Amino acid sequence: MTDWWRDAVCYELYVRSFQDSNGDGVGDLAGITQRLDHLNDGTPQSLGIDALWLTPINPSPMFDFGYDVSDYRGVDPLFGTLVDFDRLLAEAHRRNIRVILDLVPNHTSHLHPWFQASRRARTDPYRDWYVWRDPAADGAPPNNWASSFGGPAWTFDAATGQYYLHSFLAEQPDLNFRNPAVAQAMEEVIRFWLDRGVDGFRVDVVHKMIKDAQLRDNPAPRPEEEHPIKHYGRQVHLHDEDQPEVHDILRRWRRILNEYGDRTMVGEVYIFDPRRVATYYGGSGDELPMAFNFSFMWSPWDAAAFRAQVDQIEAALAAHAQPTYVLSSHDAPRHRTRFDDPTWGEARARLAAMMLLTLRGTPFLYYGEEIGMRDVPIPEARICDPVGKRFPAVGRDPERTPMQWSGTARSGGFSTAEDTWLPVGPEVARVNVERQADDPGSLLSFYRRLIWYRKRTVALTRGTYRALDGPPDTFVYLREHASQRLLVALNFGSQPRRVRLDGLGSGRLELSTDAARVNGALPQGDVELGPVEGVIVGV
Ligand code: NOJ
Repeated sequence: MTDWWRDAVCYELYVRSFQDSNGDGVGDLAGITQRLDHLNDGTPQSLGIDALWLTPINPSPMFDFGYDVSDYRGVDPLFGTLVDFDRLLAEAHRRNIRVILDLVPNHTSHLHPWFQASRRARTDPYRDWYVWRDPAADGAPPNNWASSFGGPAWTFDAATGQYYLHSFLAEQPDLNFRNPAVAQAMEEVIRFWLDRGVDGFRVDVVHKMIKDAQLRDNPAPRPEEEHPIKHYGRQVHLHDEDQPEVHDILRRWRRILNEYGDRTMVGEVYIFDPRRVATYYGGSGDELPMAFNFSFMWSPWDAAAFRAQVDQIEAALAAHAQPTYVLSSHDAPRHRTRFDDPTWGEARARLAAMMLLTLRGTPFLYYGEEIGMRDVPIPEARICDPVGKRFPAVGRDPERTPMQWSGTARSGGFSTAEDTWLPVGPEVARVNVERQADDPGSLLSFYRRLIWYRKRTVALTRGTYRALDGPPDTFVYLREHASQRLLVALNFGSQPRRVRLDGLGSGRLELSTDAARVNGALPQGDVELGPVEGVIVGV
């Protein structure tokens, strides 16, 4: 086994929004296949990513845009067919791009045949595939658990007089993983896709899969806490997630991955304490190969805060556990927007990318960040996201708009249709792939340089990490492997800074976020950093 995922740069692709091939205004698999050369054509003229994560492609009534699966073994007709999928996989592999699928095990769609059977009668053999309970004495839900999307996590089903559990929408009933038949069915799903040749899975809300056996109330509400998807944070989630038995499931899944060899999994463990997240790798590395670390998505633009988050994760993870880093995803505002600034917005995007791609761990990019796509304001009438419909302020449509390929083609080159499922961003004339592709000073060119540099630099992929104390507003660290030693110096502030190379010898500039800066020996022996500049220096 090569553990390829330890060196990989991964790219999350929101399938509805990457490329539409049939003019219906929604992205699809054949569209992705057409655009693979942008991602990696084997040359530094492409982005150079190593693995794609596709958001859910299974048949779904799309109440939560695919995170409500009605058939785990198919492809939704909106996205194409299994044949289209096989073609995409083959074309991706031909370019050395691995493909990982989104696996959504915690819940199905309410239209999945399993749930349809389950709700039919209390005596149905599928009843126990989901979590059903009698109402409390006063007719209220069986306990106080809350849905992540607002309101109680229980819906009453009049036909059989019981409540069923849903950690998300009522249209997403939770499976009962305490039932061995459910656990086995999901293992068969995993094998189905591995047999088809996929390189692994991103696993949705892993920490939710098992709940307290007695369904005890969570401890009383606590004062409002900071939570990116609000309305849910008022409880201490003692009994509705992160239960010890989840680790048995993950150990079994890891054995399956090992059987197939060279496959991976990255789990969404949406828990704020990195020490809890660390447990999902398994004590001896026998559970998830990777778990997401979302700390940068919740971080202010602050050098000390970034350093603290990195140091925390480095301290929490065992030696075998591979860290991960994410700046943006389909669930939170894009970092180009979060970290925006009238003067330094673009410089900050470069600096953030340099940090993401030079830390010790597997970075996950989100489609469009390579060209600096920002969140797109969505008029109320066009809101699609179920969270956005309930709570417009935290809706997730703005970060899910069509990829901006061209400033001149209809719908930004995303679709031949005028009317795309979400509007194309208003900045498309300036922020698009076509315009940036041949401009050596563009953000896209910078991403390409950085990713291809990372690929050939073992200190970045496999080296150790050590933070150094630098001047205010800077985050400075060393990456070392055998005789290769790199200093990464990132200036988050708008004042120039000087990083001393005391004891590190003289330096050679390898790469700067400032495209105008020329590589080569550093004349004065120290590193002068411009405002919001980052550099990689060989020392
Ligand atoms: C996490 C996914 O990333 C999010 O998009 C989805 O709504 C929930 N899980 C429910 O599946």
